[in-house]
Amino acid sequence: MLVEVHLRSPNKKVDHMKTLSMPSHASRRDVFRTAGTAFVGAALAGLQAPNARAQSYTPPAGGGELLRLSANENPYGPSESAKQAMMAAMSEGWKYATAEMPALAKLIAEREGLSPDNVIITEGSAEVLRIVSLLYGSQGSEMIAARPTFEQGPDYAEKVGGQLVWVDLDKDMKHDLAGMEGRITNKTGLIYICNPNNPTATMVQTKDLRSFIGVAASRAMVLVDEAYIDLVDDPAGSAMVDQVRAGKNVIIARTFSKIHGMAGLRLGFALARPDIIKRMNEVRMSSPNKMGLVAGVASYQDKEFMASSRKLVRECLTMTCKTLDELGLRYTKSQANFVMFDTGKPLREFSIAMRQKGVAVGRPFAPYDTWCRVSMGRVEQMPQFLDAMRAHFKKA
Ligand SMILES: Cc1ncc(COP(=O)(O)O)c(C=O)c1O
Repeated sequence: MLVEVHLRSPNKKVDHMKTLSMPSHASRRDVFRTAGTAFVGAALAGLQAPNARAQSYTPPAGGGELLRLSANENPYGPSESAKQAMMAAMSEGWKYATAEMPALAKLIAEREGLSPDNVIITEGSAEVLRIVSLLYGSQGSEMIAARPTFEQGPDYAEKVGGQLVWVDLDKDMKHDLAGMEGRITNKTGLIYICNPNNPTATMVQTKDLRSFIGVAASRAMVLVDEAYIDLVDDPAGSAMVDQVRAGKNVIIARTFSKIHGMAGLRLGFALARPDIIKRMNEVRMSSPNKMGLVAGVASYQDKEFMASSRKLVRECLTMTCKTLDELGLRYTKSQANFVMFDTGKPLREFSIAMRQKGVAVGRPFAPYDTWCRVSMGRVEQMPQFLDAMRAHFKKA
């Protein structure tokens, strides 16, 4: 088992992207001349975004739209009910959203068997990750996180003076809970568990996570990021909300960006003990906007839309895994709206080849430098990617 401590982000995103698109011996002009086509130029430009997480989406030079299979969005959303709610609320935009935030907190609390003071509504769940990192992972505290995982919380903790303790995923590319438990010290303020994990889409066994929390939450705050929980095989059985009900040191982060298809509307929430929610409210720096909130209230009650999104995501996953099997490529067992597979070569080659076919795929996640995270699009869009895959790997 590999356990390492790093005091810097392990992914070195910006440096990596620079070397990826700009060989040291070549000038930018040389690269473009050698490539010979404006198409490749556009692809490289797309991969050169200064912050790899916010990669650019330059449309393909040959026309048409770039297919975004890179950010784990849900292209079926927002739901019709959410759109109608936003249309109806548009002319009310002059008012602060004083009524909508408590209304949504009440709905969520009712469904989760909690009280509204167990809920904080935020501008996306990234805001939850930042608030929690600030409260429990800053100023000399240690934050334990898996490598690779979704880095927004750890990156922020580091910026506010926290020290990161990275623990590699296990051989099945799942959180190594025993390894993480072994790294808890009296300096540990926060432990981040992303379940299912982004970028691997893998999950830990529910009973293992419950026993981990049993130990870890008595020594530090445990943040369970359940951004993709509505897409897993057994959402109700896998969620850790019972640990909040039991009054433990556990915070659950959720989002409307995934199954609800509302990433651009910026809405998320967290569930925790009332005293923790109170502290979180005290340091929050933003609130969701009225459009996101009214859309969220509608979408949260739209079970038909959620069921249909789930079904369509799974249809795309089946198609994708079938192609991966056909091509003999290794991939993770996905419990989310994306899957990670081994391209067998540095990811940049594959990413550029896909850009040339008008498809944006996920960025690199060290140390899995040959693995690609691909998000599910609409069912009718997937053949564009899957045909490009076949052409790429059959040629290789
Ligand atoms: C695991 C995880 N957590 C949190 C987020 C942040 O989502 P948002 O701020 O849009 O709610 C994402 C986004 O991709 C994610 O994958």
